[in-house]
Amino acid sequence: MPGPAGSAVAALRRLRADPLTRFLDLRREYGPVVHLATWPVSAYLVSDPEAIADALVGGHHSYGKGAARRGRGGRVKVVQPLSLLLGRGLLTSSGPAHRTNRRLMQPLFHRRRIAGYGAAFSAIADSTARSWHDGQRLDVHTEMTEMTLEIVARTLFDVALDDTLIEVVRTALNENMPVAGRLALPGFGAAERLPLPAARRRRASRDALDRMVYGLIARRRAAGATGDDLLCLLLSTQDAETGVRMDDTQVRDEALTLLLAGHETTANALSWTFHLLGANPQAERELHAELDTVLGERPPTIDDLPRLTYTQAVLNESLRLYPPVWAMGRHLAEDREVGGHLLPAGSTLLFSQWVVHRDERWWPDPDRFDPTRWLRSGTDAADAGTSAGTSAGTSAEAVPDRPRFAYFPFGGGPRQCIGNTFALAEGALALAAIARRWSLRPVPGIDVVPQPLVTLRPRDGLPMTAHIRRLS
Ligand code: HEM
Repeated sequence: MPGPAGSAVAALRRLRADPLTRFLDLRREYGPVVHLATWPVSAYLVSDPEAIADALVGGHHSYGKGAARRGRGGRVKVVQPLSLLLGRGLLTSSGPAHRTNRRLMQPLFHRRRIAGYGAAFSAIADSTARSWHDGQRLDVHTEMTEMTLEIVARTLFDVALDDTLIEVVRTALNENMPVAGRLALPGFGAAERLPLPAARRRRASRDALDRMVYGLIARRRAAGATGDDLLCLLLSTQDAETGVRMDDTQVRDEALTLLLAGHETTANALSWTFHLLGANPQAERELHAELDTVLGERPPTIDDLPRLTYTQAVLNESLRLYPPVWAMGRHLAEDREVGGHLLPAGSTLLFSQWVVHRDERWWPDPDRFDPTRWLRSGTDAADAGTSAGTSAGTSAEAVPDRPRFAYFPFGGGPRQCIGNTFALAEGALALAAIARRWSLRPVPGIDVVPQPLVTLRPRDGLPMTAHIRRLS
């Protein structure tokens, strides 16, 4: 099996030091299936679009979510990095429980519902843009995080978040995301219960998050849970056979999943988009020209999306170069051939959008930010679940037979991101609402470094300076 030799601990250390570069190097050196003999999870980095399609779509029954590690006596333990924060919600559950809950939540994400959220997407982004002043230095990543959190809270939960709640969510993410990957380490669960300062801080942040969500649930129960938002849907739903309703822990897991998965990723996508526009003034000029033509003096609406083709191309290209979910994990439930190699049950497979989105067979000059790649016919992007609802617009150039899984910012198959259409409509409208008013310019001398945790965020935030384009 191709892959680097050496001790498993040294291999882990080398990978941890800079996973983004290491993954690219491994792909280049060893090909589309690489054995990473790291400790405690020994995994395979799989970068072949056909093998990824098999894992996510065609052969998905042979795979489970999460990484697997062999414990004592060869027993396989499956690790879900996000379960520390999210329990067993839609993102982290599997099997019949996942299927039932996915069916239950799907109506919140129907196209008609998303069209209804459009006004909130645009109004909240417009209000963020109005709060800045000319020449102001901003941490764009903080601004985008607060904005997308407010959007999810308003559209899915029908609540307005105050500063205390925003702080609770921010602290829980900042404290827990950096250690999510350590869940695979033997003994991590026990160590987490010790009275060590860092573990205490993490526990306190998770407790505060729980109190917030249980508070929302209690208030909604008390009010009769009669609306059509997420909490009402979860509280009122009954099992068709048994008539049993979800208990508060289940409601908490599902609610937190959507609150966290629904804002962190989109905040990262928008942050990287402004970073890329800051580094590519020509693309920014073209974006501004489209916004001036289509919108003139008004904020965007959902009906503008079919004409905001360059805006959507900018977003697609940003999701290619800085995919907020930069790698996904699966484990094999049975022996299976993967990319020409027979791998045993219990193997962990990693699929990295960061790597595959930079494969020059499908993406000529892959490191170049070039939104025009997406400005041909409209079919491919829609197939890849990457169009916010336009038919004119977005597809990759140059390689007519580009495989479906050469681009998969939202995953694919039955576990494809439930929020992909939501995220694309939100992303395009927020980008339009902000960029029509502001040009965000990089701060000279500041190096923006991507930090690959569960999601890909700018490690030290994203300082930029706001230059006014129009006031109204
Ligand atoms: C640019 C923004 C987003 C990106 C890049 C993104 C990416 C992804 C990816 C790659 C997965 C699949 C993970 C896997 O199969 O292992 C996923 C799943 C999921 N996403 Fe997103 N996501 C985004 C926005 C959203 C939004 C806005 C929501 C909700 C409002 C959301 C909720 C979820 C949920 C609940 C799942 C689990 C679905 C399931 O397993 O059935 N995401 N997302």
